Amino acid sequence: MLNFDFYNPTHIIFGKDRLESIGTYVPTEATVLITYGGGSAKKSGLIDKVKTMLGNRTFFEFGGIEPNPRYETLVKAVEIVRNEKIDFILAVGGGSVIDGTKFITLAAYYDGDSHDLLQYGLSLIPLDVAGKAVSFGTVLTLPATGSEMNNGAVISYGHGKYPVMSVLTFPKFSIVDPTLTFTLPKIQVANGVVDAFVHTTEQYLTYPVDAKVQDRIAEGILLTLIEIGDTTIAEPENYDARANHVWSATLALNGLIGAGVPQDWTTHMIGHELTALFGIDHGQTLAIVLPALLEVRREQKRAKLLQYATRVWHIESGSEEEKIDLAILKTREFFEGLGIKTHLSQYGVGADKIPVIVEQLKDHGMTALSETGDITLDVSQKILERAM
Ligand code: NZQ
Ligand code: ZN
Repeated sequence: MLNFDFYNPTHIIFGKDRLESIGTYVPTEATVLITYGGGSAKKSGLIDKVKTMLGNRTFFEFGGIEPNPRYETLVKAVEIVRNEKIDFILAVGGGSVIDGTKFITLAAYYDGDSHDLLQYGLSLIPLDVAGKAVSFGTVLTLPATGSEMNNGAVISYGHGKYPVMSVLTFPKFSIVDPTLTFTLPKIQVANGVVDAFVHTTEQYLTYPVDAKVQDRIAEGILLTLIEIGDTTIAEPENYDARANHVWSATLALNGLIGAGVPQDWTTHMIGHELTALFGIDHGQTLAIVLPALLEVRREQKRAKLLQYATRVWHIESGSEEEKIDLAILKTREFFEGLGIKTHLSQYGVGADKIPVIVEQLKDHGMTALSETGDITLDVSQKILERAM
């Protein structure tokens, strides 16, 4: 097992009818900004309920944070935070609203040009750069990103998606009530299953370091997602299926399964370019890239792919090559079975676009990806060719 630091201060308040906790955990004297997205939380009545829970606290609202939250939108909220002396933000929404809010909390205290905060990639922003952030909590409405219990955000600017990570951007608390996700369109539920699945494989399908607990928790998450995937989509109000979906998604990216193991975020980094260039949903980009990446990287990932074949897909017979082939095929079929297409061409993107995607990866410094830093632009090109 590799050395690791594990730090996660987020208080999770899980289950039905937990909104009352807002009254307990938002400081009584706070001036609050409620952030939300394009309207789903307004339409469902959730925003009104949240306001009721705030009682006598002074609050302001900022709606309109779009999927793949844009820098230009978020800086408008920063103005409100500064002008109204907001000291607590409550993010009500999915990964985009929560991520956008994380950026707002940092930018509000940042003295320089807040574009600066986009340049640190997957490294933590140093504390002497961003040393203070507004406290925030979340009310999660979409199970996928794990943003409700991690310190990461992904911000869109120009033709890029920029990870932002800071030790200051863990939510103080997150209300994780599966019933608040019942109104999701089926496609977003399916995207959420794929996102959680791929977060798990990116911390599991690398090379063995004898991290038995991390491996078995990762396998438990994958097996759970496979077990409940169809039901959580087909039966939106099946509480048990959705509760297991939601908690799998949170655990997939709260740092637990990634502690002490190698990680390979290539699928996400290539996927971000596909969203930025072609507007394909985040979860869908992952379903396109992962099977192709596993095919191209089968040698480097051989030992873990065999473990995955046996323990997750229960493949017991055949040669090693056959087992790996079947495990990749079953992964692809799982995504397709959820209604998510796995070929780039099915999203109207032809092979002629591959050079454009590779150029974007280059522009964004994505030239040494993977658990060992050996996915060069040439290898990314091969992955994209396989993804067609
Ligand atoms: O904007 P509204 O009207 O609220 O509609 C949203 C949006 O259109 C809708 N929605 C959310 N909850 C709903 C609902 N509709 C009905 N009922 C509800 N209960 O769903 C749509 C998608 O929402 P979004 O927040 O964009 O989805 P998701 O949670 O998948 O977040 C995707 C974003 O997270 C980033 C992605 O890059 C992308 O920008 N990621 C963040 C990560 C992190 N912070 O750790 C890791 C992930 O890998 C990911 O990269
Ligand atoms: Zn993701």
